[in-house]
Amino acid sequence: METLHPDVQDILLSEEDIRGIVARMGAEITKDYADKNPLVVAVLRGAVVFMADLMRAVDCPIGIDFMAVSSYGDGAKSSGVVRIVKDLDTKIEGRDVLIVEDILDSGLTLSYLMRMLENRGPASVEVAAFLVKDVPGNAPAVKPRYVGAHVPDEFIVGYGLDFAERYRNLSYIGILKPEVYQK
Ligand code: PRP
Repeated sequence: METLHPDVQDILLSEEDIRGIVARMGAEITKDYADKNPLVVAVLRGAVVFMADLMRAVDCPIGIDFMAVSSYGDGAKSSGVVRIVKDLDTKIEGRDVLIVEDILDSGLTLSYLMRMLENRGPASVEVAAFLVKDVPGNAPAVKPRYVGAHVPDEFIVGYGLDFAERYRNLSYIGILKPEVYQK
């Protein structure tokens, strides 16, 4: 049992929960991509922890690559306009692409990214999102093919997710105490 960080209010998903979710998603992906050699693309930085676990839960040939994007706007909310900071090193024409994300909120980052990658003529582009944030009355712009878990509209940290670059190294998914981000 992990010790709770003093800035974390509740654990939403423990290490054990995460292991179960990743194993289930890995099995789904293995089944769907058995003969396809997909390129699995993680979006930096938040997705690296999930990517490292998920790729080892997939039992078929894959390639991996990374992209880094930065949203224009105030940084707190996605504006849907995304600047590519690091592009793929791999050509994706005719290739099956699976984008790995840590969390889908508005979905604007991903919908922009998917459109951009689709323009390069891949065989397919799908999304594996570890978390999908449920915001009442606000359906995400993208529907991921694989979803780990749904989380409430709270400040979620850990397992790659940050607040001001902190907490990414927590091994569980937690809700940040409001007094930490309202300071
Ligand atoms: C987070 C997350 C997604 C995006 C989701 O990244 O990793 O890329 O926000 O938001 P959206 O669905 O509303 O577009 P962030 O910009 O915080 O960068 P990080 O991965 O480096 O933490």
